[in-house]
Amino acid sequence: MKEIRRGELFDFHGVSMINIFTDNWENVQNFQARPDDILIATYPKAGTTWVSYILDLLHFCQRSPERQTSIPIYERVPFLEMTIPHLDSGVDLVNNLPTSPRLIKTHLPIQLVPKSFWEQNCRVVYVARNAKDNVVSYFHFDQMAQFEPEPGDWSSYLHRFMEGKMVFGSWYDHVNGWWKKKQTYSKIHYMFFEDMVEDTGQEIDKLCCFLGLSPSVEEKKQITGGVQFDNMKKNDMVNHSTAPVMDFKISPFLRKGKVGDWKNHFTVAQNEEFDEDYKKKMKDPTLQFRTEI
Ligand code: A3P
Repeated sequence: MKEIRRGELFDFHGVSMINIFTDNWENVQNFQARPDDILIATYPKAGTTWVSYILDLLHFCQRSPERQTSIPIYERVPFLEMTIPHLDSGVDLVNNLPTSPRLIKTHLPIQLVPKSFWEQNCRVVYVARNAKDNVVSYFHFDQMAQFEPEPGDWSSYLHRFMEGKMVFGSWYDHVNGWWKKKQTYSKIHYMFFEDMVEDTGQEIDKLCCFLGLSPSVEEKKQITGGVQFDNMKKNDMVNHSTAPVMDFKISPFLRKGKVGDWKNHFTVAQNEEFDEDYKKKMKDPTLQFRTEI
């Protein structure tokens, strides 16, 4: 594992950030998208890797099966705004991708996305996850991902999440911002982690429809099986065990993959306070999340 100092949060255009996601900002903002690029956008811990892997398989498992056993998912689907010293930046990784389409990951809130994606009318897949499971997953991640700010104890972490003092800012602003964009930009497929857990096959069908893909029955069966939690957890090319800045002794990257794990973390009082605050922030009745299935 690579030694790296934990980031410190600062305000970046109104969004809490750490420097590994802002140091390459000029190149990120000037990034030149291509019309067939596919952007996978999420708030951290909403199921980015899962959807990245699905999209990668849908596009490439027939065309270049060898990449499944030789290239980690974070290189197949580079993280656009990431720049860790001594490693290739996300922008460089994307620019060096030999594939078409290029699959690109971002956690940026809508207002910070490079404008070229809109100018080129790129397809975007946005994945959202209910706030309670999202914050629990993020809490465990921040302990094991050595570049993240020190998470501290659960109670203070939960309050910081409610205040939007997380890397990539407020969950509430993120999911709402992208939801609003969907009303004016037709090429966003907005999907939910909970639906994926409930019926992965159906969500893959919807993705295929959005992407204009028609895998064979056999191929779809293979993909649906390969992306199940237990299979991904065993797969070193997608489970992040090769990532240089994560400490698996603290927590695995593919931790539980469940809907409702928040119940093992929230106290009754925390849950009441969270719900109260949630109602004030989530005013749009058309955007609904499930915290259990
Ligand atoms: P948990 O920490 O709740 O287990 P991201 O890729 O955006 O960082 O999201 C990581 C979260 O997605 C983790 O949540 C991880 O376990 C979950 N995840 C990844 N692949 C999954 C799968 N195939 N099935 C269910 N959950 C999955």
